[in-house]
Amino acid sequence: MQGPLSKAVSAGRRRYRRCRRRRDAIATDPPARFARSGPLRGTVRVPGDKSIGHRALILAGLAIGTSRITGLSDGADVAATRRALAAMGVRLARDGASWCVRGVGVGGLLPPAGALDMGNSGTSARLLMGLVASHAITATFVGDASLSARPMARVAEPLRAMGADIVAAPGTHLPLTLRGLAPAIALTYRLPVASAQVKTALLLAALNTPGVTRVVEPVATRDHGERMLAAFGADLAISTDADGARHIALRGGGDLHPCDVAVPGDFSSAAFVIVAALIVPGSEVTVTGVGINPRRTGLLTALAAMGADITLANERGVAGEAVADITARHGPLTGRDLPATLAADMIDEYPALFVAAALAKGRTVARGLDELRHKESDRLAAMAAALAASGAAIAIEGDDMIIDGSGGTPFVGGAKIATHGDHRVAMSMAVAGLASRDGVRIDDLACAATSFPGFADLIERLTTGS
Ligand code: S3P
Repeated sequence: MQGPLSKAVSAGRRRYRRCRRRRDAIATDPPARFARSGPLRGTVRVPGDKSIGHRALILAGLAIGTSRITGLSDGADVAATRRALAAMGVRLARDGASWCVRGVGVGGLLPPAGALDMGNSGTSARLLMGLVASHAITATFVGDASLSARPMARVAEPLRAMGADIVAAPGTHLPLTLRGLAPAIALTYRLPVASAQVKTALLLAALNTPGVTRVVEPVATRDHGERMLAAFGADLAISTDADGARHIALRGGGDLHPCDVAVPGDFSSAAFVIVAALIVPGSEVTVTGVGINPRRTGLLTALAAMGADITLANERGVAGEAVADITARHGPLTGRDLPATLAADMIDEYPALFVAAALAKGRTVARGLDELRHKESDRLAAMAAALAASGAAIAIEGDDMIIDGSGGTPFVGGAKIATHGDHRVAMSMAVAGLASRDGVRIDDLACAATSFPGFADLIERLTTGS
């Protein structure tokens, strides 16, 4: 008889082989080409925020009653969370533009019949591990080759301290089998890395844990989880200590009530459109209804310092989150020193920022980027290689990226870019192609669909005015 780990490992291997076959098929596809473009013009929307979407689905899945979520991303990452919740007893049904989610109540998840396939989604994996950790059920998590190489110890260690039994592939990677404990043990945990995924995983585990679980974050990260927990009625208290660390205390055991959530446009997706408009002469693009939570918009701070012409209009609050219409216009950019303190607030936007910096006048130094090595690919290495192959002057020094911008002279281009299956590398380099002499070829554009289905069509609409 197979034990849980060997079953998990076999499931993971099968998944890995499927993924390899898909990659091989993609590798034989002609690469997608993004050629030098005329001005981008128009007003567009981008898919719903991925971080908010995962959290809305999970909390709706625990509420007593039916929640309605509008604006949920159709991307593969959010779909992985949706399918996993369905496999654990949550009823989800699409109703026109919304999703109706009938929750099972806190503590009410059922054991899934098969392995939970997280695909490429680190957020699904880490958040759902937290969720399962305080249920008396066992779940096996598998993912694609990229996700199976990403670190899970950061979330497994504190969840073990809460009582979860976790058996993982060597180095604490997926495939991984987690047996939850109910009642779990409340803990106080100071995050050793700035990670909203780890913070949220622990707060989700805390929901079905008696007593108060405290998460201390020395560096503030995106707070969508806290905002949404409060909206669904969780007993949550947030304070800041004398050193500036945030303390989030959640008293478990209470019920959650259903909520209607309108998910704002994903700032991380809007970032590609914004940078495209900034670097292609004559462009002016507006992205409407974008989330502008300050823990997400470090890119706006960096680009403002670089002299970018970006304006926000129609600022409003939607479901506890700030939203605005963002207009970006082409104009000269100047290289800047971007401190490590910006890193948490623009962690997913560095690939797009590097493209803008490579066309700015003078040197940009982006500091404190070690966490970029642990994303869907090693984004420091992938972006340095991709931009260097396109003619940019770029180098990694320790945890910093140094870019000597061209002052607006287009990239030479011509190279075929290895995305390593990373959606943000693919979309950043597609945008670079729009401001290149010879165009840029992307080996795998299909991965863009993990967060931004329809990306290429949207760019085409903006460049052709159709
Ligand atoms: C996310 C947090 C960030 C981010 C990821 C989404 C989230 O990851 O990079 O795309 O939704 O909590 P880390 O928590 O690993 O920094």
